[in-house]
Amino acid sequence: MKHDVTLTVNGRVHRMVVESHRTLLEVLRGELKLFGARESCGMSLCGACTTLVDGLPVSSCSYLAARANGRSIITIEGLGRPGALHPVQEAFLAHGAFQCSYCTPGMVLTAACLLEENPAPSVDEIKEYMAGNLCRCASYGEIVEAVQAAAGQMPGASAPRGPLRAGAVQEDGHGDGC
Ligand code: FES
Ligand code: FES
Repeated sequence: MKHDVTLTVNGRVHRMVVESHRTLLEVLRGELKLFGARESCGMSLCGACTTLVDGLPVSSCSYLAARANGRSIITIEGLGRPGALHPVQEAFLAHGAFQCSYCTPGMVLTAACLLEENPAPSVDEIKEYMAGNLCRCASYGEIVEAVQAAAGQMPGASAPRGPLRAGAVQEDGHGDGC
C-alpha cells in the first residue's frame, strides 16, 4: 500500500509517496539524502537513529514514514549550522564527547530535547533521560560533561523546569519529548 505524505524536514517541505513498510529512517537517508541519523540495531534499542518528530525524540528506524505525514522532523543536519551550532553541539566538540561519533547525532538531539525541558539537569537526570542512547565507545563520562556544560546556554534556560521525561522506552524507543 502506498501513501501520499508531506514531511517538513529541517524546515523544508517534502511531498512524496511512501510504501506502508518504509521507515522514517529509510526515507531520510534514501530519498532525502540526510545521513546524520544512523542505523545500528534497527530495533529501537540504541538511539543511533534518533530524530525529533514534532519536538519528540523518536527512533526513526522503527517509526513508519507514513506516520510522520504532516509532521515536522528535525535531524542533526537541521539542529545547528556552521558558525551557529546548537549549544549541545558546541559542548560535544569542546568536551570531546565522542570517539567514532556513530552515536553522536542521536545523543545530541536527545540532549537538546532534555535541555529544552530541563535546563539544569543533574547527572542522574541526564543519565536517566539519555538511557535510550547507547555509545559503544563508552564516551558516557564526556557526554554527561558536555550536556552539563550546555545546560544554561540554551535559549530560555531561565524558564521554569518542565517534567523530567520518563526513562521508559516506548514503542518508538523513546519516552515523552521536550
Ligand atoms: S538503529 Fe538503534 S534505535 Fe534505531
Ligand atoms: S562515540 Fe562511538 S558509539 Fe559513541
